[in-house]
Amino acid sequence: MALTKQYMEYEGMRVPGGVHTHESLTWAWKEFETRDDDVFNVTYPKSGTTWLQEILTLIYSNGDPTSVKTEFSWNRVPWIEQHSGRKQIENRPSPRLITTHLPKYLFPQSFYKTKAKVIYTVRNPKDVCVSLYHFSLIAQFMENRKDFQDFISLFLSNDVMFGRWFEHVKGWLTMKDNPNFLLLSYDNMIKDPRSSVVNICKFLGKDLDAAAIDSVVEHSSFKSMKENNMSNYSAVPNEFFDKEKGSFYRKGKDTSLFSGASEML
Ligand code: A3P
Repeated sequence: MALTKQYMEYEGMRVPGGVHTHESLTWAWKEFETRDDDVFNVTYPKSGTTWLQEILTLIYSNGDPTSVKTEFSWNRVPWIEQHSGRKQIENRPSPRLITTHLPKYLFPQSFYKTKAKVIYTVRNPKDVCVSLYHFSLIAQFMENRKDFQDFISLFLSNDVMFGRWFEHVKGWLTMKDNPNFLLLSYDNMIKDPRSSVVNICKFLGKDLDAAAIDSVVEHSSFKSMKENNMSNYSAVPNEFFDKEKGSFYRKGKDTSLFSGASEML
């Protein structure tokens, strides 16, 4: 993969080039064949993507942490839109756990003919903006602005990767009455992770006993994930993530302003 800070434009959306290609985005949108038991972890960047990757892996292993401790998160629940997505996902045995940041209008078209499920996690845009700002300083494939005020302008413009937060959330919320769609809030997950895990299990029809639920919660906690080399991105070379400049696991907190933010939609 060629490392570049240059973004590519695809159907009105800008994304980091290199990581994404015209072919990979078209495959995800138009050619990918969704299966009934596929589960999609959908987020705007910095809204709890990695957290959900961990929770879903643990739910499907019945709370057994072996997989989260031995396999990289980005291989367990890969991004469908990235250049490596097709190779990783197409022939994988079911049930497939799939991640995406795609806006709804570029989501796999075949999804709508199936019983596959979408979990959409939404986070207060102020926290998303701060988190994305810090991430842009360490992620070598992202456009950044050294000055935070300048970054806010970028965040509020159409030039931000995966489009504006507002449109992303607005697009996905049109699915809120679909029984195969679950809306989660990062804020609620922080406040009550156990109830969130129980809620996700119910949505997925996964019947885990209390000990398995406890294990999911424990192994997907901020502390566990920060220490887990399979999920903390420490294995990614500095060429991609400059770890001298910061950590992927920064604060893991929410300012609980989500109700205010939703009024801005
Ligand atoms: P901060 O930068 O505010 O710390 P994503 O995975 O979508 O890129 O989101 C990254 C954000 O989620 C980071 O936020 C990270 O700290 C936070 N995060 C990751 N795992 C978490 C967990 N188990 N609990 C709470 N927050 C978590």
